[in-house]
Amino acid sequence: LRIAVFASGSGSNFQALAEAIRDTGINASIELVVCDKPSAYVLERAKHFNIETYTFRPKDYSSREDYEREIVAKLERERIDLIVLAGYMRIITDVLVEPYCGRMINIHPSLLPVFPGINGIGQALEYGVKITGVTVHFVDGGMDTGPIIAQHAVEVEENDSEETLAARIHRVEHELLPKVVGWIAEGQVSVTGRKVTITN
Ligand code: GRF
Repeated sequence: LRIAVFASGSGSNFQALAEAIRDTGINASIELVVCDKPSAYVLERAKHFNIETYTFRPKDYSSREDYEREIVAKLERERIDLIVLAGYMRIITDVLVEPYCGRMINIHPSLLPVFPGINGIGQALEYGVKITGVTVHFVDGGMDTGPIIAQHAVEVEENDSEETLAARIHRVEHELLPKVVGWIAEGQVSVTGRKVTITN
């Protein structure tokens, strides 16, 4: 399974996935990191793993569709099977969604469908929920709306700040994302409409 990870920031999820692939039997390889921010730390991490990066600056293009067409061409040249959005902070369009329908997943720091969009962790604290968590889902045309593959709950503690809650959420993300990629690599994940089934 040839993977492209899309990220805009720190890339701790990229790192967790790259380590899991290196250290466990996941039958996959990260072939490419796609990044919209030339200063993002994920690029350093990719270098450390000797993984090719594709960086672009959205402001160099007149539309999202324009840069996505170039990305899709690159993904096709690299024969990418699966796109993993891991902290990719851009709205994506049909140019990317259509060719990778059923082959693109996203990790989100809340129990969707609550708290979609940016800052799922802050939204949960603000709302005062006692339980939040992590979701990995297929990507469709909406904002964090595609079929859910896996979720894991995280309790909000009495004195949580955004930082302390984020730290626990990230630990869960770093387990859940490699697990889901492993299932996909083994062909264990199937989708019918909104319903995702994991077989073993
Ligand atoms: C994660 O919380 C992920 O759920 C969200 O963006 C964050 C990315 O963190 N989509 P990192 O760049 O992987 O450290």
